[in-house]
Amino acid sequence: ARYDDLEVQVGPGGETHQVADAQHPTLTTQQGIPVADDQNSLRAGARGPTLLEDFHFREKMFHFDHERIPERVVHARGYGAHGYFETYKPLTDVTRADLFQRAGEKTPVFVRFSTVAGNKGSSDLARDVRGFAVKFYTKEGNWDLVGNNIPVFFIQDAIKFPDFVHSVKQEPDRDFPQAQSAHDNFWDFVSLSPESMHMIMWVMSDRAIPRSFRTMEGFGVHTFRLVNAEGKSTFVKFHWKPKQGLQSVVWNEAVKINGADPDFHRRDLWDAIEAGNFPEWELGLQLFDQDFADKFDFDLLDATKLIPEEILPVRRVGRLVLDRRVDNFFMETEQVAFCTQNVVPGIDFSDDPLLQGRNFSYLDTQLKRLGGPNFTHIPVNAPKCPFHNFQQDGHMAMRNPKGRVNYEPNSWSAEENPREDPLKGYRSYAEPVSGTKVRIRSETFADHYSQARQFYISQTPIEQAHIANAITFELSKVETPKIRSRVVSHLRNIDEDLAKKVAEGIRLKQMPEPATAMKPTRKDLPASPALSIVLN
Ligand code: HEM
Repeated sequence: ARYDDLEVQVGPGGETHQVADAQHPTLTTQQGIPVADDQNSLRAGARGPTLLEDFHFREKMFHFDHERIPERVVHARGYGAHGYFETYKPLTDVTRADLFQRAGEKTPVFVRFSTVAGNKGSSDLARDVRGFAVKFYTKEGNWDLVGNNIPVFFIQDAIKFPDFVHSVKQEPDRDFPQAQSAHDNFWDFVSLSPESMHMIMWVMSDRAIPRSFRTMEGFGVHTFRLVNAEGKSTFVKFHWKPKQGLQSVVWNEAVKINGADPDFHRRDLWDAIEAGNFPEWELGLQLFDQDFADKFDFDLLDATKLIPEEILPVRRVGRLVLDRRVDNFFMETEQVAFCTQNVVPGIDFSDDPLLQGRNFSYLDTQLKRLGGPNFTHIPVNAPKCPFHNFQQDGHMAMRNPKGRVNYEPNSWSAEENPREDPLKGYRSYAEPVSGTKVRIRSETFADHYSQARQFYISQTPIEQAHIANAITFELSKVETPKIRSRVVSHLRNIDEDLAKKVAEGIRLKQMPEPATAMKPTRKDLPASPALSIVLN
């Protein structure tokens, strides 16, 4: 029989059979058994019950039944691509990290962009933070820079992350809303967590509805350390600057795009790479030392604060190019496991309590999400440099130690018998630490409004109007009057005019008193160009 241009065979029940030939290999089971008929299960008579003996049917169905794995607890919806990072100039003065030692060095990367709150099947243009996670396959192991498109975060301490995420996701009784922040639980939590106000300003701005993944900035958010060959540490904040320029859509566009094409961002990235229009970002560093940090009005360990670029310019040190789409979404984008804990010699952590908590959380969640301790054996997660250790067994082990040796020290001269390397090996920065064991938030984390105001006043009048409209829209969906009013009480500490516009917009009966501010709010901080539009 023929269907258009296709030659097929038709079975007695009218079903379509396609048969192996020179171009098409033989279909087999997972055991490699050639399959004669994939259209009919084995039955006792053509109209009789299916037989348990049908191993082909059972294997095929069992595998299908187990296709789903848990989606990520956050950042469930994402899209990835391969590419490379090219170092402009050696950074030997500040770091011994191998990828920064040679000008022109190209390091392979895998990047995954994501939304935070929505489930795996949610739409791309939701008002939300975007993840910007980069895995560098360096010659001294994998370094993951697991960032966002906004330079600050909602909370200061990882212990609040489960509460924050519960409040942002669907409400537990009704299981909606699926992919947006416009609901009572979210606004209740943030209005009772004034530390989130700076982030709220960004999330209510156009930054939270990017036009494309290709037109987003990226930020490592936390203060990290770079450590050079002499063991000297320099603090660093990481930035990604899009060569395509920074662009957003407006809310009306976002709503329409979500309806017409919920896959808008992933399609855009796929199409750009297919067309050879490879997106690029420059990696920027803000480098500083402790003396410099001591002059800040905020704490370098506080992830709700940024360092304004007028105070500390961003030094561009290399470029990221995405030039290859994935072969298979699940194998690569879904199974990739980024972890802030994956750092290479020359890169280290700060004591930011959010970062410290993240270092635990990613590995922990991936053990469950990817089904056991061997997810590093999945090609997208494996290093591309030589690696050897004595870890073995566990579910799905593909890479046990070779031969007799699986411990050290040992007396064997086996082919694969790795040893410590005091010179090349990772050493944590020898930061002096002492202190009383306490459960207390530092007073240096207490100013929640100065940088929120700084962001708001750095926006153009149109962008400010977008922020006011976004908050008004969001609060208009909030049913509980006291939550609406509480949000406005925080806005009064940020900008009176903004508070007034929102209060009028939601027809608040009475203007609330400003929320208690722990530190006198300051008006003299300069506006940050991190907030201004980059159009290269
Ligand atoms: C994903 C935890 C804060 C960026 C995740 C995942 C967890 C998590 C459990 C899912 C990982 C997986 O299943 O593979 C946390 C905790 C945080 C925190 C506990 C705070 C205490 C942040 C911050 C950023 C961030 C501040 C940005 C700087 C990301 C990104 C992903 C992610 C980009 C998606 C990674 C991917 O594409 O696979 N986070 N997160 N997270 N997180 Fe966080």
